[in-house]
Amino acid sequence: MALKTRLTELLDIEHPVMLAGMGGVSYHRLVAAVSEAGGIGTLGASTMAVDELPEEMAKVRAATSKPFGVDLLTALPGQVEAGIESVIDGGARIFVAGLGVPREVVDLLHSKNILVGSMCGKVRHAVSAVASGVDFVVAQGTEAGGHTGTVATLTLVPMVVDAVGHTVPVVAAGGLFDGRGLAASLALGADGVWIGTRFIATPEARAVKGYKEALLAVAEDGTVISRSYTGKTCRVVRNDWTNHFDEHPEELQPFPQQVLASTKAGANHLGAKDGTTVDVTREFMPCGQGAGAIDELIPAGDIVRQMVREAEETMGRIAAVRR
Ligand SMILES: Cc1cc2nc3c(=O)[nH]c(=O)nc-3n(C[C@H](O)[C@H](O)[C@H](O)COP(=O)(O)O)c2cc1C
Repeated sequence: MALKTRLTELLDIEHPVMLAGMGGVSYHRLVAAVSEAGGIGTLGASTMAVDELPEEMAKVRAATSKPFGVDLLTALPGQVEAGIESVIDGGARIFVAGLGVPREVVDLLHSKNILVGSMCGKVRHAVSAVASGVDFVVAQGTEAGGHTGTVATLTLVPMVVDAVGHTVPVVAAGGLFDGRGLAASLALGADGVWIGTRFIATPEARAVKGYKEALLAVAEDGTVISRSYTGKTCRVVRNDWTNHFDEHPEELQPFPQQVLASTKAGANHLGAKDGTTVDVTREFMPCGQGAGAIDELIPAGDIVRQMVREAEETMGRIAAVRR
């Protein structure tokens, strides 16, 4: 059982399955489980304090000798600079920039043998990321949980492949939750998948109390793109808080003030300790449309293996159509 792509070769991993660097969720247990299963785990460092990232990286290294990565949002001035030293010292194999390309750090990371990836919601983001020297791009469609754009995965991925796929591997993201999605991504020309929401519904994911249950209960139309938690467009579980701001957009503040506002109002605990009690009718619960297909918690390693097995079955089924 093996799906060899440019991504598995570049990252020296067994399966072309990447755990998204989800703030608040992708901590050491989940990251280590995905890497150990032959995919690659990525720490979501955007919610980590400066001293927390080195600790999390040490815990990943203690749990697995396989490669892993770190994802940092670069929207806040100084955040990348603060985290980059830890990324280098902590033994990461890849660094992923969540928002915007950290042009200034690409050369430094390369000199330390760390590969750089960039999240892209539009073709022009991918073109500019590649011009900045990144080693792979993640084409993330609007179906994705978390900060997201307006273009759907099925549309975005082949366009990004056409634009930059001859130069670097392209990874598909947004609304993918099983092996059919992996096979479809390969069919679109991608070299692998970057999965968020499916990995929240695992025993290893870190989450506030009620988040995983909300995700299991949500239907495919139960998420909404809202600016009510961060000030930026973010796909989350729809609840009373998001409904209120849909009706009162005049109360929204820009990023990052809305982060402070939602936190102060007790509706934003992303990054809080595992199992923190929250009011889920108001809480910030980033979640992709794929949650509609998720109805049980599954160990992260099983998800990786199951995805690859299903992708192979899917490709066999498609090949049989031609006979
Ligand atoms: C809880 C959560 C937190 C996220 N945090 C980040 C982040 O800090 N940085 C980032 O680049 N992407 C973040 N994302 C987006 C993911 O990296 C990924 O692109 C997305 O989850 C893929 O779509 P899916 O959820 O449908 O699998 C987050 C997504 C979720 C669900």
